[in-house]
Amino acid sequence: MALTLTIMAPDDAHLHLRDGASLLYTVAASAQSFKRAVVMPNLVPPITSVDAAGAYRDRILQALPQGTSFTPLMTLYLTDQTTPETIDTVAASGFVRAIKLYPAGATTNAHAGVTQLERLMPVLERMTYHQIPLLMHGEVTDPLVDIFDREAVFIERVLAPLRGVLPELPMVLEHITTADAVAFCRAQSGRFAATVTPQHLLYQRNDMLVGGIRPHLYCLPILKRRHDQEALVQAVVSGDSRFFLGTDSAPHARHSKEAACGCAGVFNAPVAMEVYAHVFEEQNALDRLENFSSRFAADFYQMPHNTDTLTLIREPWVVPEQMSYGTQGSLIPLLAGQQLNWKVHHG
Ligand code: NCD
Ligand code: ZN
Repeated sequence: MALTLTIMAPDDAHLHLRDGASLLYTVAASAQSFKRAVVMPNLVPPITSVDAAGAYRDRILQALPQGTSFTPLMTLYLTDQTTPETIDTVAASGFVRAIKLYPAGATTNAHAGVTQLERLMPVLERMTYHQIPLLMHGEVTDPLVDIFDREAVFIERVLAPLRGVLPELPMVLEHITTADAVAFCRAQSGRFAATVTPQHLLYQRNDMLVGGIRPHLYCLPILKRRHDQEALVQAVVSGDSRFFLGTDSAPHARHSKEAACGCAGVFNAPVAMEVYAHVFEEQNALDRLENFSSRFAADFYQMPHNTDTLTLIREPWVVPEQMSYGTQGSLIPLLAGQQLNWKVHHG
């Protein structure tokens, strides 16, 4: 009999679902493994009001395949125009769970992001008052800062000072990629956490750049050194509740990845739980997977734990080379054409 692992159903604390016809493909892929997901607001135009978030949530739920249950946890996109009153509407909404900070221009669809965070202090203070988490894309956009240093410099220039001024503001440093970020998180107390993606646990920048450039591994923050990868793996398997699952699954049609100027983002939803299981197994830490995938984010967001379960089977399978993206062509999933030893059991 195949080895199986049954865990409390997991939550994805960082997910890009896109909009319109894309939802048919993205929502189904995530709902196969995850019960809830914190849905990123970087649409065009961005989601900046509770009303827009509510309409977006309805579109996501309409795209859900029959018979699946999946709860989108909505977020608003912080802009230079966000007001403290917007934060009051978030607190009253019951379904918008967090506010996302994109430094202007930092990543895909971040044009509308924040130019001067200092000017948003009244907004951040109101978030502290209501205890609404600030989710951060933690990279500076200063053209003088090397792309491989942008996370570490964000921590030094933006995050550490902000934490000093507003120590009670709940924060998540999203998709961390460096040993510096791991060390910073470990030094925090209170409501502070970080999400970690499958690709940053599996890969380092050599995997993307040596022997040819692999555009499907290009995401932001960009893959770092082996030393960073090892620090991330140790952080997630350590059982520290400040590190939890956030896939950052970020689909882009194949033609916009395989291009002279390819988009940033890795579509990992179809393999995410399988990759996390693989990483934990390699570290002899499968007994800690459930906390990372299914408890720590719920605790951070002060939500009940899921009551149903997910079963993974230890059974080799080959990830599809590509998947349909409807009229947009195809999506290339993480690990396309490669073998994985764990498989989520469906039905
Ligand atoms: C994300 C996207 O495509 O929306 N891309 C990425 O490389 N991670 C945006 C983001 O989270 O940076
Ligand atoms: Zn993201």
